[in-house]
Amino acid sequence: MPRKSPKPYKPQFNHKSNDGLKYVPLNERLCRYVNECRSHKGDHVLEALRKETEKKFPDVVQMQIGRDQGTFMTALVGSLGTRRAIEIGTFTGYSSICIARGLTNHGRLICLDVSEEWTNVARKYWSLAGVDGKIDLYLGPAADAFKQLHSSLMFEFAFIDADKPGYDTYYELVLPHMRKNGVILFDNMLWGGKLGQKKSPKHPNGSAIDKLNRKLARDPRVESVLLSIGDGVNMCRVLG
Ligand SMILES: C[S@@+](CC[C@H](N)C(=O)[O-])C[C@H]1O[C@@H](n2cnc3c(N)ncnc32)[C@H](O)[C@@H]1O
Repeated sequence: MPRKSPKPYKPQFNHKSNDGLKYVPLNERLCRYVNECRSHKGDHVLEALRKETEKKFPDVVQMQIGRDQGTFMTALVGSLGTRRAIEIGTFTGYSSICIARGLTNHGRLICLDVSEEWTNVARKYWSLAGVDGKIDLYLGPAADAFKQLHSSLMFEFAFIDADKPGYDTYYELVLPHMRKNGVILFDNMLWGGKLGQKKSPKHPNGSAIDKLNRKLARDPRVESVLLSIGDGVNMCRVLG
């Protein structure tokens, strides 16, 4: 009997045309699977922080980054050998713990935020996570904090997750402080899935994000890619 050759593998990608679009549409089942299959699942400190944030600030708890994004950020910060990092928009501290955990032994993270109330929760969890000794928090508008940064201070990693119309300003402020091959991540860059339509959004947040995505794609100072993690993460490698 001749042996049957196995059926060719047909990936279940969703593409209507053959123009190179390749993607798997996510649904709740797949999102749960993505969250399941990663390191640090069920981390006690991060889970307790999620619960406390939800209890204290139920109206804004969705501002926290997703769990898989947090693991991605820890891995990325670690792979860059990050000694100095900066975060713009700290809230109750979820992303900052993920960044701090990826730093080298003597690495440091600068956090910028305007809210004392929200960052008081962050301080508590930095201590529980054992990363409080690595983090310096500046309270006040991020653009003002940059004026106080020493011009020679250089970062391998930056995370921008504050007021959306301010993103471009923060980008221009942080860029001169970035090392070559350092990485800047911007959060919420798919803006709830509302981008990519014929007209740019009218909402100032959506239009600021849309303009910045398009600017980054053309900007010769960085290599930029828009990743569909969480609400969309634009990842920029800083060129020479
Ligand atoms: C989306 S939340 C950050 C979420 C955080 N990265 C996390 O994973 O939990 C945005 C934060 O930006 C802060 N923020 C808003 N405007 C700011 C400004 N002009 N300067 C500094 N922080 C600002 C807010 O206080 C808020 O905590």
